[in-house]
Amino acid sequence: MNVRIDSAVDFYERHPISCEIILAKLESSRGHLEGLAPEELFAHDQDHYGGLAANDALAACADIREGSRVADFCAGLGGPARHLAHRYGAIVTGIELTPARVRGAAELTRRVGLAARVRVIAGDVMHVPLADASHDAVISQEALLHVPDKARALAEAFRVLVPGGRLAFTDWVAHRPLSEADKALLWQGMAVRDLYGLDAYARLVEAAGFAVESVEDLTRDWAEILQARLAMYRRLRGEAQASGTPAGHDAFYESYVRFVELVADGALGGGRFAARKPVT
Ligand SMILES: C[S@@+](CC[C@H](N)C(=O)[O-])C[C@H]1O[C@@H](n2cnc3c(N)ncnc32)[C@H](O)[C@@H]1O
Repeated sequence: MNVRIDSAVDFYERHPISCEIILAKLESSRGHLEGLAPEELFAHDQDHYGGLAANDALAACADIREGSRVADFCAGLGGPARHLAHRYGAIVTGIELTPARVRGAAELTRRVGLAARVRVIAGDVMHVPLADASHDAVISQEALLHVPDKARALAEAFRVLVPGGRLAFTDWVAHRPLSEADKALLWQGMAVRDLYGLDAYARLVEAAGFAVESVEDLTRDWAEILQARLAMYRRLRGEAQASGTPAGHDAFYESYVRFVELVADGALGGGRFAARKPVT
């Protein structure tokens, strides 16, 4: 079955990882959902490559510590936000476009007792509902690939940061231009918008006013992780088809297979960017 994708929301409203699926898995493995600890969610709620270690790498880049006010752009189900609150004592506000993910993040956060330090609010990172100079750090993981105007999102990150505040994010990058057929496949299957190369992306961050501190090419790491994830999606595909989620849709699957090939070929990959808002 194919579902037409018109936006990232169409994709994430039907994503195979959801609050309901996470809670169902936990209920079946522990018998009940009472007294859930944050750590019990971490195997399930991190929708990016590299799990908790990827959060820790961003935390180091963004100098996140006890009491840091962090905005997580495209927060998903709030997994990274909960980790930063639980491990570092940060106070995290996630911005998330997909209503089901905003609701799911609230439910998961409440269940693990982190609601005083983590909230995920509905919003678009191109129009962030946060005050100027209200945050010490902005992070984002594997999500700006969905955002049509990345310059606008970076300008919003700059606006909400205090002078001296840090930006740290990972995202897909294009090491070579993609064919029109690949662009169409990635859009239709995974809601992927225009991508930048590492250098062009760094220039975009600078154009938003930031001083770029580091740019890391994560392509080799991702190539390995993606092979494992593709094997997982292959297994999940049958289950997903039965429940009508996108992992079962041909466009998602074809798109994912092609994405993994493009990363293995070095045409696509990942980057981690760290930058600082200058103190003027
Ligand atoms: C791959 S998930 C990453 C979630 C989270 N960062 C994590 O690592 O677990 C991408 C998320 O970006 C959200 N998203 C896409 N476009 C957005 C936008 N313009 N503003 C806010 N969120 C957006 C999607 O709804 C989805 O939840």
